[in-house]
Amino acid sequence: MFQMLCYSPLALDIPSIRRQFPILSQRIGAYPLVYLDNAATTQKPKTVLDAMTHFYETSNANPHRGLYPLADRATQAYEDARSRVATFIHATRPEEIVFTKSTTESINIIAKCWGRTLRAGDVIALSVLEHHSNIVPWLQLKEERGIDIAWIDADGTGRLNMETLEKILGEKHVKLLSLSALSNVLGTAPPLQDIIAMAHRAQCLVLLDAAQAVAHHPIDVRELDADFLAFSSHKLYGPTGIGVLWGRERLLDAMPPMLGGGMMIDEVDCDHFTFAEIPQRFEGGTPPVADAVGLHAAIDWLTQFPWQEIEMHERSLLTTAQNELSKIEGLSILGGTSQERSGSLSFTLDGIHPHDLAELLGQRGICVRAGHHCAQPLHRHFAAPASTRLSVALYNTEEEIFALAAAIQEILPPFR
Ligand code: ALA
Repeated sequence: MFQMLCYSPLALDIPSIRRQFPILSQRIGAYPLVYLDNAATTQKPKTVLDAMTHFYETSNANPHRGLYPLADRATQAYEDARSRVATFIHATRPEEIVFTKSTTESINIIAKCWGRTLRAGDVIALSVLEHHSNIVPWLQLKEERGIDIAWIDADGTGRLNMETLEKILGEKHVKLLSLSALSNVLGTAPPLQDIIAMAHRAQCLVLLDAAQAVAHHPIDVRELDADFLAFSSHKLYGPTGIGVLWGRERLLDAMPPMLGGGMMIDEVDCDHFTFAEIPQRFEGGTPPVADAVGLHAAIDWLTQFPWQEIEMHERSLLTTAQNELSKIEGLSILGGTSQERSGSLSFTLDGIHPHDLAELLGQRGICVRAGHHCAQPLHRHFAAPASTRLSVALYNTEEEIFALAAAIQEILPPFR
């Protein structure tokens, strides 16, 4: 309510923002491109593309290895990016930031490196809302180490069952709760701070999968009091190929490396090795330095806009989507219409498979995702094998949402 009163729709200049994204001005045949698949990956502003090109044109070298000025510049650019990520999520120190390939790799590092201390019977808690990248690494650990997985169920609207969580935390010795900060299907967020406080009271660590949340809401790891957090650059207007793992220093410090190779070591002999301090310990091999530069530029770009305005604009888009889509006969929004959403909204439509709908929308220039969105347990929860998902970013407009709804109405008749 307070936000609504303070919001000025003129505050964000969306046409000017759109002009900063070269890809958005193209047409698909006769249709303007309507990109509504931002939960899969966001488009990149020119400033990100320019920063990466500039790095390759002026400073490309392998960081932390060479002793010549170019290598110094590459090292500086890479470490500046780490510091920028640290301030972006309010980490205590840049050393708590590990550059990885993706959210998936970040979660796998926790499962495979922190997870080495787990024994048969130890419990990891997950929710039915999770993306496969926050399920499969734990199932692998279940196979390898005999750990147990405790599942937090949800109600008919997709809200997590807090009683189940309380019961699991009270009855089992749960070592880690690994939870999505924002569902990639429903666009809803669990009450993170309450959940983290509950988990900590039960001596349980918390890993947050912030892949979807990171472009839509400010993240403060200290305020959240999380223990680990993972996200990807490419969902944050940055390049693909680089992700972030944040962890409390003492936790990262106690973990062995995942990959063996160059730069993750302290010393190597023919029969033994010792590993480097954090974060290099987890960054074996040549790191994605140009991608780190791109991520740095993406954070600078996004943070020029007040978070409150980003949230208001995107919420308004999803409210319009909800209102317009609800007018279509036979369309059901997963999770119902009563919830506050950000990022994504998924739906099923009687008479047409999501794959057919997405393909026909694609022919009209409209990009949405169809399928299970790497969240099969959640789709089973809703007894829907697949759904169609629209997901918004800062550059989307109300007109694009209207175009989506109109295109669905146009496509539907032969299927009914
Ligand atoms: N995780 C991405 C999505 O939800 C790819 O589409």
